[in-house]
Amino acid sequence: MDGIATVRLPVSPSSVPEGHSVPGAQDRASAPSKQPAMPFESLSAFARALRAAGELATIDALVDPKLEIAEITDRVVKAGGPALLFRNVRGSRFPVLTNQFGTERRAAMAFGATSLREVEQRLRETIDLAVPASLGGKVSKLAALAIAGTSAVPRRVERAPVHEVVIDPPDLRLLPVLTTWPLDGGPFITLPLVFTQDPQTRRPNVGMYRVQIYDEKTAGMHWQRHKQGRVHAEKWGKRIPVAVAIGGDPALTYAATAPLPPVVGELAFAGFLRGKPIRIVKARTIDIDVPADADFVIEGYVDNDDLREEGPFGDHTGVYSAADLYPTFHVTAITHRRDAVWGATVVGKPPMEDAWLGKATERIFLPLLQMVVPEIVDYNLPVEGGFHNLVIVAVKKSYPGQAKKVMNALWGLGHMMMLTRCIVVVDHDVDVHDVRGVVWNVLNNIDPVRDFVIMPGPVDDLDHAGSYELALGNKLGVDATRKLADEGYRRDWPPEIRMDAATRDQVSARWKEYGIGDLGRIGVADVWSGQGPARLARLLAEPPASPSDVAPRSERLK
Ligand SMILES: Cc1cc2nc3c(=O)[nH]c(=O)nc-3n(C[C@H](O)[C@H](O)[C@H](O)COP(=O)(O)O)c2cc1C
Repeated sequence: MDGIATVRLPVSPSSVPEGHSVPGAQDRASAPSKQPAMPFESLSAFARALRAAGELATIDALVDPKLEIAEITDRVVKAGGPALLFRNVRGSRFPVLTNQFGTERRAAMAFGATSLREVEQRLRETIDLAVPASLGGKVSKLAALAIAGTSAVPRRVERAPVHEVVIDPPDLRLLPVLTTWPLDGGPFITLPLVFTQDPQTRRPNVGMYRVQIYDEKTAGMHWQRHKQGRVHAEKWGKRIPVAVAIGGDPALTYAATAPLPPVVGELAFAGFLRGKPIRIVKARTIDIDVPADADFVIEGYVDNDDLREEGPFGDHTGVYSAADLYPTFHVTAITHRRDAVWGATVVGKPPMEDAWLGKATERIFLPLLQMVVPEIVDYNLPVEGGFHNLVIVAVKKSYPGQAKKVMNALWGLGHMMMLTRCIVVVDHDVDVHDVRGVVWNVLNNIDPVRDFVIMPGPVDDLDHAGSYELALGNKLGVDATRKLADEGYRRDWPPEIRMDAATRDQVSARWKEYGIGDLGRIGVADVWSGQGPARLARLLAEPPASPSDVAPRSERLK
């Protein structure tokens, strides 16, 4: 791909480019492959892999980027359906891919994995290599670490697929940008990778901040106050060079959404996740590096003094975020691959596709979180909480007040955790992914005066609930752990009810004799009965409560 010369082509909105279909998909469909091939060099390469895995529907009917694609996508996402490749989009010659991350399987495929836990495990193993208990003379450990390190260093190239076609003069209206909800302020780029650079250190940042199209050359840049792009913009002063990439390897698209601390580069992180360096190339009209394999790159500068109304926008909170003033992005160039596919997502009332980007973050960041807050056993960012609204965290408690320490630690971290509206802390043996089990535990275990923490501080820019100034409010912590004697609990915490092993074994052995039938068949199983399958399995494995656990207090104190 390196040797491709830059060409200038006249762009006609009505002509359909060749090469955006997914040739070869039929052949690949039969290839036995448990582990999806990766990395993907473009969005059409990912679309091919999705099709081969039976995870892509192709729509050839003419569809409107205004509302129609969003309505189709919303229905398919909520039905757990496939990724959607719209090949005939009104007013644009580019195909549009939505719902590329819309199930756990597809989100995992973006990392060449079969589950998000597998990606978590990959990260955990690398951390173990990087911070070993002892190297034990294992040269192979160092070699594995070296491979991970090499993948993380971006590779500079001189010629790039993303420069194959130049839209000259640049015109944002030629792109198939979606309008997703009826009260939206206009069309929005919904999966943009926004590239900026620190003016002093030249350290790049990639963040996903939506971009509202105003006209052929201007757009609104929605970087919120806690985000790194905004920090860079403030350092640059009046004008900041900015490039917006769309598509390319989905691992890089994910990395733009990942709440990395500023010292960890998204390009390095994506390179590590995909096991191969991200290729970068100099942008054509600004001094900034862009991904060589992106599907599109829009170059320009953001003028901090040119504030315009951005929004309203039907947001991931499930409500419209109000219009507000944001700086204007002035476009100086638009380039794209010959086989460019426009990547888009529709956010709205959960569950939506971005739920799986959030779940990827939940899994991938657990090993990193545990390095800082080691008592954390697991956590769940429930989709209903829109990721900022609820974190359920299980901790192994060993000293009084530890649940509250964990809340403060999480609120003291970067923007993923610091903006969390509600943190619920449960004991290590609670399955945080069994939300009904969590609710049962919490409601059973709390005394609000003792266990609720109200914490003032920063909240998300999109938070509409607080009555204070924008982005300032209060958060709630709920300590639902079993209370210890040295936390002032003067009684004995009651043991959970479970049958003794002898009776369970006897009933299992005699089950057929009772003539009730297979429990899996006689009714609709309540997944929660027994507090969820994982918890039930754990409960059954644990020794049952002993008579002394429930003896009258006077007996136990003897
Ligand atoms: C689909 C999607 C859209 C997003 N839109 C915005 C946005 O418009 N503005 C914003 O500040 N953050 C938005 N985010 C969240 C940021 O991408 C996320 O906080 C990221 O970690 C920011 O990177 P940074 O820390 O490098 O700034 C969005 C995330 C997703 C998944």
